[in-house]
Amino acid sequence: MDLNNLIREPLKKYSPYEPGEQPTGDGWIKLNTNENAFPPLPEILGDIKNAINDRLRKYPDPTAFEVRKLIVSALLIEKDTLTDRNTVFVGNGCDEVLDTIFKVFVDPGDEVVFFYPSYGMYSVLASLYGAKINEIKLNEDFSLPEPAFNAKGKVMFINSPNNPNGKSFDNDSILKICKNFPGIVVVDETYADFSEKTSLPLLKQADNLIVARTFSKTFSLASLRFGYALADKDIIKLMNNVKLPYNANMIAQVAAISCIKHRKKLMEQNKLIVSERKRLTDVLNSYNGVSVLPSDANFVLVKFEDKSITLKFLWDLKEKKKILVRHFSKTGLYNYLRVSIGTKYENDKFLEAFKEIAAEYL
Ligand SMILES: Cc1ncc(COP(=O)(O)O)c(C=O)c1O
Repeated sequence: MDLNNLIREPLKKYSPYEPGEQPTGDGWIKLNTNENAFPPLPEILGDIKNAINDRLRKYPDPTAFEVRKLIVSALLIEKDTLTDRNTVFVGNGCDEVLDTIFKVFVDPGDEVVFFYPSYGMYSVLASLYGAKINEIKLNEDFSLPEPAFNAKGKVMFINSPNNPNGKSFDNDSILKICKNFPGIVVVDETYADFSEKTSLPLLKQADNLIVARTFSKTFSLASLRFGYALADKDIIKLMNNVKLPYNANMIAQVAAISCIKHRKKLMEQNKLIVSERKRLTDVLNSYNGVSVLPSDANFVLVKFEDKSITLKFLWDLKEKKKILVRHFSKTGLYNYLRVSIGTKYENDKFLEAFKEIAAEYL
């Protein structure tokens, strides 16, 4: 059997997504995959435990009715956005939301637009679905370049705040893109709750906009996989039609409801991450040859003037200090390390280690 003759055409030249390292064993400080620094609240763990005892043998609600209702009526109520539960899609993490958008809109050969650098899954999914890729390079300062405003295609992905640099794009630019782009514009707001900005209000003005969000970062549920999207109800209906029946598992639904119930406390907690982001930025900026890009997310991108020492920091942090940060071996990113914001304790450990390594190399 020649598998190469059997697999789908796009898979013949496809590179899968490379997730950040998830080490097993104790003692690691993980600042490499932008998880929330804090564990879920005990109240939320309590709700999860009760649900496990009671409901594990049954299928989850395939429509996630309760969560969708609460997302609009409680979680997003203070935001100026759509208010109908039929405008909410829920998925197995934001990644499944993105995949579902491809399932609905992208045929092989259709043009898909996204920016570089940005979240790697846009390009992975585009290759998986055999799309024609138009990857537009962001300006030197990571702002949107002119071609963003007159691009053509089926779907465009904008990540705001953008991973890996952490900066949000402004709503005037996003709205202008929505008006000019002939297809669907997806704004991936995975990190938006750590910023002051959101494109949620634009949903009332642009019917080709989908805003994708997640409970992974804001609510510390990365492992449970719960994401959602808001859009015009006709778009959401199409997405619901193609999803697998039980894509959002029961524990994730229960945990999401519990997070919404405790949202005020969780959002307060997230303010600590924002203030730690400022502290980390200020300290790292005080080193010669190091600068931190302005970030609206729960991570910062650290630039080293001397490219050759970037990997030394990466390796010494890992091998000598058991601290993981992220390096991307990609054009334009060789002299950067992306550092997730941890707890105060973790950030202290990171800064202490950074100081020692800096004494050797900077
Ligand atoms: C920009 C961006 N979008 C989506 C995701 C995936 O999020 P989820 O855990 O909800 O699948 C990530 C994960 O790191 C991300 O950085």
